[in-house]
Amino acid sequence: MTRPPPSSPEAAGDVPPSVRAPALTASWGVPLVEWWTVLGSTNDRAAELSRRGGGRGAVVVADEQTEGRGRRGASWLSVPGGGVWMSIVLDEADSAPQLPLLVGVACAEALEQVCPGLGVGVKWPNDLLVGGRKVGGVLVERAGGPPVVGIGVNVRVPQGGFPADLGGSATALEAEVESVPARERLAEAIVRRVLLRLDSEEPVGDALSALAARDALYGREVMTEQAGEGVAVGVDPTGALLLERADGTRVSVVSGRVRSVPGPGR
Ligand code: BTN
Repeated sequence: MTRPPPSSPEAAGDVPPSVRAPALTASWGVPLVEWWTVLGSTNDRAAELSRRGGGRGAVVVADEQTEGRGRRGASWLSVPGGGVWMSIVLDEADSAPQLPLLVGVACAEALEQVCPGLGVGVKWPNDLLVGGRKVGGVLVERAGGPPVVGIGVNVRVPQGGFPADLGGSATALEAEVESVPARERLAEAIVRRVLLRLDSEEPVGDALSALAARDALYGREVMTEQAGEGVAVGVDPTGALLLERADGTRVSVVSGRVRSVPGPGR
């Protein structure tokens, strides 16, 4: 992949000095790390940096988001210190329909690397699962420019528990492992792994191969919005979910909601 030379972090302009994190910037080896106490959404700030030439690999982290969002317009609960709420500025060369899956695989690997004993699955198209429950998610957005990738990982269980409307489907690292690393360590591991995967020889092919071993839907009976019911049998080279219907035909699902259908014995 050929890339334009990275632009200077200074090109990002009026960053309040209190949110620049020069020590993290240096030790993570990226053009810029901003660590905010509160933001609306780290994706919005990353998109702003991107517009101003903030540089591929620039990272925005917030302790709290007041307007954190997930896929399909859902809001994303981002309580202060409760998780890793972060976004990474990418460039055009990183654009690919498989990008959310690549980032999901990278995040799963990063979490396992720093949380010994943890097993993280990736549920098409963008969920990170532990023990069948969602611990995080990936939101790739492009506001008319290069992609920005947003990553949310629940670290603490919110006081009073996760909202009832999540129906017990959410979890947090602290509920899954004995000791959870500091959020800085989690964020660093994620950034490094995402960039490592993107800079590999065959980013998409390699990520899809790695996904096969942690595909949380594989072999499951699922209901898809786009194509109805069937068994999930993997992901095709374009990143679409492969669904096998009862008559044995296969269809590629490119968008929409997918949920597991509890079957006999499950
Ligand atoms: C999803 O599972 O629907 C994706 C959730 C993505 C949440 C992260 S938190 C950091 C970044 N900023 C946002 O507003 N959303 C993403």
